[in-house]
Formats: sequence, structure tokens, C-alpha cells
Amino acid sequence: MNNFEYKNPTKIIFGKDTIEKLASEIPSDAKVLMLYGGGSIKKNGIYDQVKTALSASDVVEFGGIPANPEYAVLMEALKVIKEENITYLLAVGGGSVIDGTKFLSAAAVYEGDEPWDIVKNKVRPEKAMPFGTVLTLPATGSEMNSGTVISRKETQEKLAFGGPALFPQFSVLDPQVIRSIPKRQLANGITDAFTHVLEQYMTYPAGGLLQDRFAESILQTLIEVAPRVLKDPSDYEAAANFMWSCTMALNGLIQQGVPGDWAVHMMGHELTALFGIDHARTLAVIAPSHYKYNFEAKKEKLAQYAERVWNLTEGSMDDKAYAAIEKTEAFFKELGIDTKLSDYTSDYEGTAETIAQRFTDRGWKGLGERQALRPQDAEKIVKMAY
Ligand code: NZQ
Ligand code: ZN
Repeated sequence: MNNFEYKNPTKIIFGKDTIEKLASEIPSDAKVLMLYGGGSIKKNGIYDQVKTALSASDVVEFGGIPANPEYAVLMEALKVIKEENITYLLAVGGGSVIDGTKFLSAAAVYEGDEPWDIVKNKVRPEKAMPFGTVLTLPATGSEMNSGTVISRKETQEKLAFGGPALFPQFSVLDPQVIRSIPKRQLANGITDAFTHVLEQYMTYPAGGLLQDRFAESILQTLIEVAPRVLKDPSDYEAAANFMWSCTMALNGLIQQGVPGDWAVHMMGHELTALFGIDHARTLAVIAPSHYKYNFEAKKEKLAQYAERVWNLTEGSMDDKAYAAIEKTEAFFKELGIDTKLSDYTSDYEGTAETIAQRFTDRGWKGLGERQALRPQDAEKIVKMAY
């Protein structure tokens, strides 16, 4: 196991009817900017719950943050922060609203001229405006981590950055919010969280016995609750386990002391930037090809995953490892998620070359747990995913 330092300062307030606890988490003299997305919170009652909880606070609102939070929209919100002398941000939404808020928290105190530089140069902000979140969609883990992914249509870019100043001060997780989430987004959430665990687990044996079992238990729980959540999002027990699994999948815990991959995400982000495909779906497109292409390097963990998560005990290590990739793809398909790029666009020719060129231009010469995945490897993987 590798050495590590681990600190996660985000306070989690989890459970039924917890949105009402909001006010006690925000300083009473704060001027709050409440940020939200395309309006789902106005239909499902979450907006009213938040407004009621904050009735004694000084609150300004900014709605309209789109899925894959867009830089140009966030710059509008930044103007409001400056004009209204905002001191505290509150994200009410899924990963997109939370990520947008993280960017704003950094941009609000940024002293450079062009806030896009924070994203482009992967600045690790040391100071940031404090913010909290009310999570409305389990998926990304953004509610308990310090990473964010920002999109810019103008340049067809989608880039991640983060740093310790970007942990939420608190996050309210009320599993009842799941009731109004469309099936497509529920399936996305399950797939995203599942892949987050795979990115931190499907590497090589590193002696992190507990980390492995944490990871496997999150995968098993997601597999168990997925059909229940999709069938009946008002099943509170299933919803609660789904929500907590998504948070635990990417709050830093399972990655301590072990190598991480993240190449699936890096390639997936390009597919969203180029085609607007939902984040989770890009992962389902890339992951099977990625694991097949890197089979030799990953087969020990693939076989362990086969045995412990899918109960595939027959055959050689290679047989089990291969069967586990097939099982994973079948699981995504059962959720209603297509796993080939051509299922999403007919305009895919040249995509692999474009992505490889972008990686080269950015100096991303070696991705993955051994920093060995070169742009030309990414090109082959994306082609396999056509
Ligand atoms: O915009 P609104 O009206 O809120 O509707 C949203 C949106 O259309 C809707 N929704 C959210 N909660 C709902 C709801 N609809 C009904 N009832 C509710 N309770 O769902 C749609 C998708 O929302 P979005 O926030 O985009 O989804 P998600 O949470 O999957 O976030 C995706 C973004 O997070 C990034 C992705 O790249 C993508 O930009 N990620 C962030 C990560 C992080 N910060 O750690 C890690 C991830 O790997 C990921 O990259
Ligand atoms: Zn993800």
C-alpha cells in the first residue's frame, strides 16, 4: 500500500427531510447566491423546501446552469456574485450545478484576468468562496469531493480541475429527491458511480486489501439496488443506498494508498465535448474497449472483480477477466445504456484521431495507473468503441 494523507472536510447531512436543516449550516450574516439548473427543482418541490429553509437569510438566485456546466453561463453568475457582493454559494442540483458552483467559488476570489485560465491551467485553488450543496441527483460524488469539470462550447472543451479549497462546507443528501429523477438520469447515475469505482480499482494489485473490499462492496451495492431504484424511485431504502454508494464512490476514501486509472474519464470527456453525449454514457462507451485493450496490464484485478463482484469462478484467470468485461457491458445495457459510439452519432469517423491529437497537444503523453497510455493508445481504444 502506498503512503497517503487523507482529509475530507465536507459535512454530510443525510436522510429524510434534511433540507430543512440548511439554515443552521450557513452563517447568519452571509449574502447567499443560490445556484440551480434548468428548473427541475421548481417542479419537484426542492426549490420550495430550500427557500423555506432559508427564509431568514439574504438570498439571491441564479438558475439555468446547464448539464455539463457551461463557462459562458457561469460567467453570467460570476457577474451577479460581484455586483451583489455575495459571500456564500449554495448549489442546489446534480453534478453540473455543483461543479459550476465549485468553479465560481474559485473564480470569485481569482485575481487573474481570464477565469478560464483556472480551468485550462488546472490551477489548484488555495482560497475560494465557501459553498454548500443540496444534492438532487446521485451520480458524480461532487457533493463530497474537491474536483470539478467545466465545459466550454466555444472551443468544444471539457476539462477537470480541483484542489483542497473546493470541498463543499456541507452537503445535504435527502434520498427522497430521487423520486422525480427521470429513468435516463437514474441509469446515468448508477453507471457513473460504478465507473468511478472501476477507475480506482481496475489497475493492478497494490496490496490495498481494505480499499479493494470497499470498492467491491460499492459495486455490489450498486448492482443490488439498481433494478429497485429504476423500478420504483420512491423505494426509500434503495434510494438511500444508491445515494450513499454514489457519494462513497468518489469522496476520496477508496483511492487512498492505491493507484488510479481515470483514462476512461479522460477519453469520455472528449466525447461529451465533441458530441454532447451524457457523461455516464461516454464512460459506458469507452470502458469495455479500454479494459480489452489493456487486458494484460489489468487482468489480475479484472479476474478478482469477476470472482468477488460477479461470482464468476470458472476457468482460467484470462477467462474470468474476459467474462468480467462482458458482464460489465451487459450491466450497462440492462440499465438501458448503449455502449458503442455509433449508437449515439453517425458522425464518428475521425473522432479517435481528434482525441489523440488533443491529448498530444495538451502534453497528455501517459495516462492511466502506470502513466503508460499514450495518445496513440487512446486512438485505438476510441476506435474499438465505434
Ligand atoms: O438542470 P435541472 O433542471 O436541474 O435537471 C437536471 C439535468 O437535466 C436533472 N435533474 C437533477 N436532479 C433532478 C433532475 N431531474 C429531476 N429530479 C431531480 N431531482 O438531471 C439532469 C442532469 O443533471 P446533471 O447535474 O448534469 O447530472 P450529473 O449529476 O450526472 O452531473 C454530470 C456532470 O458532472 C460531471 C460530469 O462530467 C458532468 O459535467 N462530473 C463531475 C465529477 C466531480 N465533480 O467529481 C466527476 C464525474 O466523473 C463527472 O465528470
Ligand atoms: Zn464520472
